[in-house]
Amino acid sequence: MEDSNRSTNPTIHELSDPGRRIVLRGSVATALGSLLAGCAGAPAAGGPKLGFQGISTDSSRDGLRVPPGYVARVIAPWGDPVGIAGAMPAWRADAGGSAAEQALQLGMHHDGMHFYALDGSRRGLLAMNHEYVDDGLLHADGTANWSAEKVRKSQAAHGVSVIEVALQRDGWQPVRPSAYARRITGATPCAIGGPAAGHPLMRTAADPQGRTILGTMNNCAAGKTPWGTYLTGEENWAGYFDGGDNPTADQRRWGLERKGWSNWAAFDERFDTRKHPNEFHRFGWIVEIDPLDPKSTPVKRTALGRAAHEGAWVSVTKDGRAVVYSGEDARFEYIYKFVSRNRIAPGGAKANATLLDQGTLFVARFDADGTGRWLPLLHGQGPLVPANGFADPAEVMIKTRQASDRLGATKMDRPEWLAIAPGSGEVYCTLTNNSRRGTPGQPDVDAANPRANNTMGQIIRWKEGGDADAETFTWNHLLLAGDPANERPEAKGNIKGDPFACPDGLAFDPRGVLWIQCDVGPAALNKGEMARLGNNQMLACDPATGEVRRFLTGPANCEITGLTWTPDGRTMFLNVQHPGETPSERSDPAEPTKFSSWPGGSRPRSATVVVRKADGGVIGT
Ligand code: FEO
Ligand code: CA
Ligand code: CA
Repeated sequence: MEDSNRSTNPTIHELSDPGRRIVLRGSVATALGSLLAGCAGAPAAGGPKLGFQGISTDSSRDGLRVPPGYVARVIAPWGDPVGIAGAMPAWRADAGGSAAEQALQLGMHHDGMHFYALDGSRRGLLAMNHEYVDDGLLHADGTANWSAEKVRKSQAAHGVSVIEVALQRDGWQPVRPSAYARRITGATPCAIGGPAAGHPLMRTAADPQGRTILGTMNNCAAGKTPWGTYLTGEENWAGYFDGGDNPTADQRRWGLERKGWSNWAAFDERFDTRKHPNEFHRFGWIVEIDPLDPKSTPVKRTALGRAAHEGAWVSVTKDGRAVVYSGEDARFEYIYKFVSRNRIAPGGAKANATLLDQGTLFVARFDADGTGRWLPLLHGQGPLVPANGFADPAEVMIKTRQASDRLGATKMDRPEWLAIAPGSGEVYCTLTNNSRRGTPGQPDVDAANPRANNTMGQIIRWKEGGDADAETFTWNHLLLAGDPANERPEAKGNIKGDPFACPDGLAFDPRGVLWIQCDVGPAALNKGEMARLGNNQMLACDPATGEVRRFLTGPANCEITGLTWTPDGRTMFLNVQHPGETPSERSDPAEPTKFSSWPGGSRPRSATVVVRKADGGVIGT
């Protein structure tokens, strides 16, 4: 999912030297030329092998396709009960279930997900995000007749699910009931950790202490910490608020507008910023959840900054401190890293309950010479002073975008997932697309974001200058996505292998193969230059050679996302989000199967899919 927020500050290149834009154009052209000739800087060989037979795409197919020798099966669709004992309402194909029932069932629009082993690679938990909803499918009467009950149901279909799964004789199955089963919704109480806890800008009429927030929402991607918790990113929350006719400049910087895209504010006034302006500050955080303790309280970690957070991924310094990378999926927004003050303690989640509350947040600047710098967001340093609207350290975290604007960080082409290479610690990031790049009145191309009207996206990668907490790095592109058959030279890309567009999900498997998942929007999928690419897909890449091979294609108009493995690499779980989505993201309840009836022949349902090799072997070999 994307939004249209953007920063209005000049680019770093405009800030630092007006004349440099011309120089940059030349160096960008040179860099792009060398990139199109092949993957810059990639070692020639030695990576993990891609052992499967690549598949073709077919946009007329409304189903999953995988290579010969593989089996893909649905195990956890929207609306199935998560498995709380004595509270397992069945899904209703007419979408007639209540809000209270939805709060006990898997939410809608599955996204990021991780596996937490309970018994090696045979039993475990899946923690997964439910990013947003299609109100036309969620309610029996669609978007008509809005009511408080419908708003509650919509909120209940957002958030996070924890389910237990086990490998049985007939394959992986949900375990129901399970003592671990849990729903966290748009109304579940969450605590606040870090500098913004209790801050005046976090206090509301319902929470005068500024310490408890109801709900997490728009949970997009997710990371798994070395101490066993789940980090989920709140991405496009701004659209749920009604800002009235005159949002402030600070609110507009976050995309607040009149009405937004939901009807929540009319029935739940905390989403009306005219009445409760500070509620708007209580979303956009990375939320930490302990999936192994169903009674634990989710915590919004404010030391990691506020953003349209796609997700968060953890690396570790040589002396054991946590380094959390995150990006902000919006046009011309930023990439961040947080370095914890303290070391990760032995003892799991409880021993590290405040680890992510103290540390330093940095924002990335990618320079044209292939180096980069992490700029610290430190209160009192440089422009981050009271005169510029940063009264204290908490305000820097609440206004992370404004702080990054002031520091001259690089405006990226919608950073989506990050993936940290096992062994090397090299970090990869999908930049999914940015059709406004280089268009009139918008930031120009730069070395890291080298294509104007960038409909295809790219994958960037960097190596820290020493340890993971380094303040400098070197970077290049793994690839520029595109289609060699495209008539526009700048949309051809330089993929070695199967073409794709709009990379979003990205993860390394236990063997070091890099898996790429695509999110071309439904409006573009079926027409024009994207149609040749077929339905959204997942591909495997050998990062040592740059070879890309297509592994899976999804049902009509879906996005492929949410990728995780059992420790033995023999089972892959992934999510299919919004099969059959309409270009407006609002289905017609009179015709719910217009574009897709996946997976069960009735209204389409986002779902978790399990992929195995028929012979039980390691996926991808
Ligand atoms: Fe929720 Fe940025 O995709
Ligand atoms: Ca996306
Ligand atoms: Ca995404």
